[in-house]
Amino acid sequence: MEMNIALLPGDGIGPEVINQAVKVVNAIGKKFGHQISFKEALVGAAAIDATGDPYPDATHEVAANSDAILFGAIGDPKYDNDPKAKVRPEEGLLRMRKKLGLFANVRPTFTFPSLIHKSPLKLERVEGVDFVFFRELTGGVYFGEPRGRNEQGTKAFDTNVYSKEEITRLSRMGFEAAQKRRKLLTCVDKANVLATSRLWRETVQELAPEYPDVKVEYEFVDAVAMRLIQWPKAYDVLITENLFGDILTDEASVISGSMGLMPSASLGSAVKLFEPIHGSYPQAGGKDIANPLATVLSAAMMFDYAFDLKAEAELISKVVNESLAEGIVTEDIADGGKAYKTSEVGDWLAERILS
Ligand code: IPM
Ligand code: MN
Repeated sequence: MEMNIALLPGDGIGPEVINQAVKVVNAIGKKFGHQISFKEALVGAAAIDATGDPYPDATHEVAANSDAILFGAIGDPKYDNDPKAKVRPEEGLLRMRKKLGLFANVRPTFTFPSLIHKSPLKLERVEGVDFVFFRELTGGVYFGEPRGRNEQGTKAFDTNVYSKEEITRLSRMGFEAAQKRRKLLTCVDKANVLATSRLWRETVQELAPEYPDVKVEYEFVDAVAMRLIQWPKAYDVLITENLFGDILTDEASVISGSMGLMPSASLGSAVKLFEPIHGSYPQAGGKDIANPLATVLSAAMMFDYAFDLKAEAELISKVVNESLAEGIVTEDIADGGKAYKTSEVGDWLAERILS
């Protein structure tokens, strides 16, 4: 198969972890006989520094004309403590999601047998955890208008808005995923307080009869925050709005043992995007110490979701598990053992794929 992949490394450790994913993708291409080409473009603080714009038109061109996008990370501390900054790196990611129509963010949480002892949860609670969030990504309070300040600057407001259509398309993806998994769908909302959440619940209730094999549960977001820690095995597929999903998926991402491990996919348009859940970890940028596995596993999701190539995706997961079992790991999970460099882990994975 021919594949044109856009590389958007972004900020901080983004370029380093993307480099390792490229090694792995190239190894897969060689092994399975795919023609893979890459085009790199700027996004985030890196793009602001070069062009003044966190998502330049040239980057949109590259992204929109690719078959899939591999995205690193975004964010730079020089913008974080300046509430008056006119332009922020994060805006690049938000605009890209909106312009490309990537309305569904798929964020799985699963465990790695050889890392399970690193989980902040007790073994019996975390063993076998396997759930996936479908987070709505282009609506809600992230984009709702009006937003801003009053004239005196003494009041600020954001607006949470959802249309039935936005809720329906995201929910259908969740139902379909549940049908292929353990057939349990949890709708996460705050319907006891918010009008938007009541529309979510009503919409999901209307769709449910079309998926009679899926059991649907409705839970309030605060209760889910608690139960994700108490008994994460209770969940299979969870659907939720943009902000709730942002918060809960960060919580979920540490359950399996390290921040650096969980991948994600953003779906909804012809071009799909794949990125690690973790951020840009600026303190580690350029040091060759960051864990590349979340990005490598995002590349595995790319083969699966963007190209429907399951064997390729499975081989990547397999070698990642082998690297963990054999202790070829970066310092965040080295546990006092030898800590490998980011680039060494990437080299090892690529070599193992080809062996
Ligand atoms: C994420 C990030 C982004 C978000 C930021 C960087 C805008 O936290 O992908 O979860 O809030 O969506
Ligand atoms: Mn987030």
